[in-house]
Amino acid sequence: MDYEGILAQIAQEIAAQTDRGTPADYIPQLACVDPAHFGMAVALADGRVFTTGEADTRFSIQSVSKVFTLSLALGRFGDRLWSRVGREPSGLPFNSILQLEHEQGIPRNPFINAGALVVTDAILAGHAPREVLGELLRFIRACAEDEDIHIDDAVARSETRHGDRNLALAHFMAAHGNLHHVPALTCGTYFHQCAIEMTPRQLAMAGRFLVGASGFPSQISTGSVRRINALMLTCGHYDGSGDFAYRVGLPGKSGVGGGILVIAPGRASIAVWSPGLNAQGNSALGTLAVERFAQKTGWSVF
Ligand code: DON
Repeated sequence: MDYEGILAQIAQEIAAQTDRGTPADYIPQLACVDPAHFGMAVALADGRVFTTGEADTRFSIQSVSKVFTLSLALGRFGDRLWSRVGREPSGLPFNSILQLEHEQGIPRNPFINAGALVVTDAILAGHAPREVLGELLRFIRACAEDEDIHIDDAVARSETRHGDRNLALAHFMAAHGNLHHVPALTCGTYFHQCAIEMTPRQLAMAGRFLVGASGFPSQISTGSVRRINALMLTCGHYDGSGDFAYRVGLPGKSGVGGGILVIAPGRASIAVWSPGLNAQGNSALGTLAVERFAQKTGWSVF
């Protein structure tokens, strides 16, 4: 397959788009990112990596970090994690508080903000935030085989200053006994995990542990690989998860920084970055780019 040609065609199509979506504005540090950016990287099971556009420019991975914290939490707690967070799509925006009231403070899934806060709260057990963030960075760096991956403190500070919504979710869950640390501590750790910055190339490399192909690094069990992919497919794009599955046909996890990590099981890990978001807070042109990539390669889990 001519991956280079396919990526070049996609980059051309993306460059021609005039409606690029809107960068997240509720985290001021992200609001000033130029929506013209575009980068994409594909890490194949045979070790080859293909890229197009700004594949070596760093962006804020935001909610894509939830895939890595979930992996750590499943490794540490296994199925016990599911007593604190569900595995169902929410059908509501990523930062919604609605279901928590009816569902005893148990978030629907680990990828909406409330669920990710519970996951971070779980891995904080017995550890200081600095240790948890260190473990998370070590895990991501090992997956990516790249030590040059860090937290952007300006983004973490920016989100902390505007973190009322996540603090509200955390307080609400604390009221139901589903948060084991003070909300500011769990949220502070979560804001820093979301502020990790990576390039599309680094993210595609890091995602290889979810591909489940021999020869790829496999930091987690085969069972966890399957389960995390299932959650990415059903919940990875919030209330846009059905649309993403319909259009792309592969598991993916988005972030409000405009990044998406997409897994083609047994084949490749794909990362795309375009900062303009659609109405659901997912990268508008990033989705289009991976939709085209899936069409052109014929890759699908269906
Ligand atoms: O908690 C937040 O709102 C952000 N740190 C992350 C949200 C996010 O990335 C949603 N994804 N599309």
